[in-house]
Amino acid sequence: MQHQPNLIDGQWINADDGTTLEVTDPATDQTIATVPSVGQAETRRAIDAAHRAFEPWAARPAAERGRLIARLAELMHRDADRLAGIMTAEQGKPLGEAKGEIAYAASFLEWAAGEAPRMYGESIPSSSSEKRILVLRQPVGVCAIITPWNFPAAMITRKIGPALAAGCTAVIKPAELTPLSALAIGELALEAGLPPGTVNILTGKARVIGEAFFDDQRVRKLSFTGSTPVGQQLMRQASGNLLRLSMELGGHAPFIVFDDADLDRAVAGAVACKFRNAGQTCICANRFYVQSGIYEKFMQRFNAAVANLKVGRGTQEGVHVGPLINDAAIDKVREHVQDARDKGASVPVGGEKVTIQGLADRFWKPTVVDGMTPEMLCANEETFGPVAPVARFEHDREAIDAANNSPYGLASYFYTSNATRLMRTAEALHYGIVGANDAVPSTAQAPFGGVKHSGFGREGGKYVMDEYTSLKYVSWGLV
Ligand code: SIN
Repeated sequence: MQHQPNLIDGQWINADDGTTLEVTDPATDQTIATVPSVGQAETRRAIDAAHRAFEPWAARPAAERGRLIARLAELMHRDADRLAGIMTAEQGKPLGEAKGEIAYAASFLEWAAGEAPRMYGESIPSSSSEKRILVLRQPVGVCAIITPWNFPAAMITRKIGPALAAGCTAVIKPAELTPLSALAIGELALEAGLPPGTVNILTGKARVIGEAFFDDQRVRKLSFTGSTPVGQQLMRQASGNLLRLSMELGGHAPFIVFDDADLDRAVAGAVACKFRNAGQTCICANRFYVQSGIYEKFMQRFNAAVANLKVGRGTQEGVHVGPLINDAAIDKVREHVQDARDKGASVPVGGEKVTIQGLADRFWKPTVVDGMTPEMLCANEETFGPVAPVARFEHDREAIDAANNSPYGLASYFYTSNATRLMRTAEALHYGIVGANDAVPSTAQAPFGGVKHSGFGREGGKYVMDEYTSLKYVSWGLV
């Protein structure tokens, strides 16, 4: 079995007390590797390294920083098969999706590499002829980066790409369930020539590493992707040192199909949006609202498409839906489906676990719940699994009100062929991301992020550079 140490200051290290964590394959429950479970002392050393590396890194010409970030992206493409294999083994997603994630992860680095030389400041006309006003855009400093298990590579590069481009350095704490992808990116960061200390990677207990982050004034920024309750807790802790924050938190995405939707595209979009990563995506459609005039036709096609999805181990050819990440995920899915049944919904497709010989008891049949009502759990909470609850509506306003009736505001989707309805609906939805006839909106060029309980801050596009820079005003008196 492989043991993969942590990365501090360009060196591979173990926990001071030798403690380790086991990494398991969710498809088999077998331990595939161990990683260190580091404590506060190692975390402080990683912050020391990131702090030492910060000024020389920030002082390098931006184009040079960009070239090194681009080199890391090239190495990820070169090793895409190997990285995808690691991801499928620790996270479970089908290999094809894992490869897609590696390309997606590299695209954030490519985008950030291009943004590095575009960190423009400004000069502002002064009211005095004796003064000049300059605005410099400067890196915030050492960034603590905490990432989730559902996208073990892309959520890291989406953060370190712009952080490094801006001139920041990073200490990354990947999810305990999926540390291997992060550490593999760390190896490539060294090979790419990123200086020691610019990228540090620590594995272990979130509480222990987090406390060391929050105790240290040299850490100036926290970027977190994960659940809303954890994000709220981190915000409270981050208030001590007034850290800059980016919070990409939970979602509860509505997916509306209007009567005039292109049925083929709406069905294909609904399947892709709901079932990628086995429904374990913050921007997954979580509840569907389908208008009366198209309801029967949509359900017939949607049910057939969902019934055709193949469930199995991610390494197996032709599999669309892999295992869920752990037993708690299965329990939540079961609870949501049972609750919907108890409250009167029917389950035309799926609705139960799939037993696959020789594999862990962690596969759930892609499921359609017909007749979702507002009091059901699935109408109110993120299921984070392969369950598609559907409700019928009559008037546009009904669907928009239902879609907006949520504390979350990350992604939302709708399908219509009418341009006026498209614009009005896009404007009316209280979400950071709107997929209008598009179920897969994520891309490196666009600002990804939510409103309300889905957090704040934007990742991607030119906007992401704001997250890792602060403005410095220089008032220049001419002598
Ligand atoms: C997420 O689940 O937070 C990421 C989804 C994406 O980037 O498309």
